Amino acid sequence: MKIGVVGLGYVGMVTALSFSSLGHDVVGVDVDQARVQALRNGKSPVYEPGAEDYLARTRAVFTSHYSELNGCELVFIAVGTPPLSDGSQNLAFLRSAVDSLRQSGYRGAVVPRSTVLPGTTKRVVAPYFEHVGYNPEFLAEGSAFRDFFNPDKIVLGYEDEHTLSLLREAYEKIQAPRLEMDLSTAELVKYANNAFLSLKVAYANEIGNISKNIGVDVYRVMDAVGLDRRIGREFLNAGIGFGGSCFPKDLSALIAFSREVGYEPVLLRAIYEQNAGQPYRLVSLLKTRYPTLQGLKVGVLGLAFKPNTDDVREGPSIKIVSKLLEEGAEVHAYDPRATENFRKVNPELSTRVRYHSSARECVQSSDAVLILTEWQEFSDSSLYDGKPVFEGRRIFGREGVGW
Ligand code: UGA
Repeated sequence: MKIGVVGLGYVGMVTALSFSSLGHDVVGVDVDQARVQALRNGKSPVYEPGAEDYLARTRAVFTSHYSELNGCELVFIAVGTPPLSDGSQNLAFLRSAVDSLRQSGYRGAVVPRSTVLPGTTKRVVAPYFEHVGYNPEFLAEGSAFRDFFNPDKIVLGYEDEHTLSLLREAYEKIQAPRLEMDLSTAELVKYANNAFLSLKVAYANEIGNISKNIGVDVYRVMDAVGLDRRIGREFLNAGIGFGGSCFPKDLSALIAFSREVGYEPVLLRAIYEQNAGQPYRLVSLLKTRYPTLQGLKVGVLGLAFKPNTDDVREGPSIKIVSKLLEEGAEVHAYDPRATENFRKVNPELSTRVRYHSSARECVQSSDAVLILTEWQEFSDSSLYDGKPVFEGRRIFGREGVGW
């Protein structure tokens, strides 16, 4: 089957490479020529484990010309839907992808994979194409290929049987329950899924904050709670809160949408609020040992919002580093992958941080160490050389925000 993918960011790239490795003929389009060139040269524009192996083997074609999509039966759109200042969604990239597809004369089925609010596919895509669907992705950064090939479910939103049969064919070789539903339901599934996962994290952090105050380790609590099959242990790891390009943005968008449709989402607001304060708890913990941070050399290990990614977006590292600097600390930092992005996303903040090229060097330059990302390499206890360590993410379980 000939499949197109518009938008070759992290979701689009993984989608294109994965469908190609299932044996489909794939054409990936992106307006960013440098990105297209990098992909053609076998270089992944984002750090994702496995991406370059897939790139080395793929038969997928990468181009910046929409005209090369002619002949595709199905085109997925995986462009960004970043938040606007009021938390609602910026659909400019989606609209522009739709326009470019129309102008190129494409007439096949069009299926957004980008996370969009209920009603968006019908409003923004359906007026211009006869065959339209919606297929949310559940790819987590760092394990995106594994998630693509071993999903818990495949959600197929559709309006017409032709699109549904194309989607079924595209995913034919993947074993997973298929849920077929209308477009708005499929769109809401994605938000409800991400919001529930954020809720689990915020819940673990709430219990963690109580645990900390009474000298209890929240991980022991959650290990027990998670054995209840109605609850499950995953996403109950307490720490400095969730970040990334999905949970915070999707939560804000769902809150804005809920208000628009006439419901004040009290629980969703609470998740947001709980998470917003969580990074600062690590700074407060440091201050229990060092009441003033003025001139203190603080080593920050990890800038990425989670391990195995170079992504720092909405990560707790931004809040923590800002707060440390504001309180007069001298900040030393190390991340195996995300330093470059941290510099780019926060140019002003970044000039005041001293970066190191290894964890050991960062620790040696510091009086105390904060762990912000649970990268595997930080679990080498010989790194710390007797320095006080405060865990924002659980590595050793010695002293952290909820333990
Ligand atoms: C998330 C979802 O897991 C994917 O299913 C979804 O497709 C994706 O968003 C998306 O909407 O595109 P991702 O943001 O890559 O994926 O990362 P997660 O692994 O879900 O982690 C999100 C945040 O929660 C991270 O900051 C992580 O450190 C934090 N987290 C996660 C915790 O603090 N505790 C946990 O127990 C689990």
